[in-house]
Amino acid sequence: MSWRRRIATISPIACSGTRRFDVDLIVTEDDAALSRFAANQIAEIIVARPTAAIVLATGSSPMATYQELAAIVGRERIDVSRLRVFQLDEYLGLAADDRRTLYGWMRRGVLAPLGIGDEQVVRLPSDAADPELASQQYEDAVAAVGGFDLSVLGLGPNGHLGFNEPPSPATAPTRAVSLTAESIASNGRYWGGAELVPRAALTAGMDLLLAARRTLLLVPGAHKRAILQTTVRGPITPEVPASFLQAIPGVTVIADRAARGEAPLPEPAAAGVGVGAA
Ligand code: F6R
Repeated sequence: MSWRRRIATISPIACSGTRRFDVDLIVTEDDAALSRFAANQIAEIIVARPTAAIVLATGSSPMATYQELAAIVGRERIDVSRLRVFQLDEYLGLAADDRRTLYGWMRRGVLAPLGIGDEQVVRLPSDAADPELASQQYEDAVAAVGGFDLSVLGLGPNGHLGFNEPPSPATAPTRAVSLTAESIASNGRYWGGAELVPRAALTAGMDLLLAARRTLLLVPGAHKRAILQTTVRGPITPEVPASFLQAIPGVTVIADRAARGEAPLPEPAAAGVGVGAA
């Protein structure tokens, strides 16, 4: 299957060669400008391909972008009725109507504002009785549409993408994971305390995310400065799953000045460092 073939180019062994792409890094004045830029990028992709398969993050980073996107979609009368939307990740062990589900956040933050109904969405169920089966069904659904046309991601404080926690190799499939202490702490701000954050989750796999034809990584805020540098300039390694974005084409990292910092970014590390041991 052609969309999957690209995964082979970033397998741990192949990655230690020359397969490194320059990450397209856009730096905007502030979060508002970041959101406008990102929303316009997403809108262009939808206009070009109204049946696009897109995977959407929750978290705080993309929410203003989704608002901007909803405004553009309304103003320009863009057809979103044929989009296929995929949930990026979900906590495990919550009832479907629990206020903390990421799907609930997705509905409030992006689906409802865009007028996208549940029937257009492939979900990762928070109440999955068989997480392995749910993961396989999700992978099958992505395969059925030929892979993601667009992936809209945020950057975890530990370099996770979705809930692909470190270490996650490029080949990590959709699966159930245990959240790291860092993710639990950072997710605590969403729900009023770390003790309210579930300890396990389902995540779309690195295999699917790294095969996306376009990726937008949204990185606002000074608290992301160090992990942004590591992601775009550090070694490509499972210890920083987002660093694999250096190894695929079609990636745009959109950061604001606060996240980018004032000092010039260091030169990229030698391609593939740390990957061979994965
Ligand atoms: C959310 C998700 C996470 C977040 C990341 C950044 O669906 O998949 O990977 O994108 O933790 O979170 P924020 O944007 O809140 O800083």
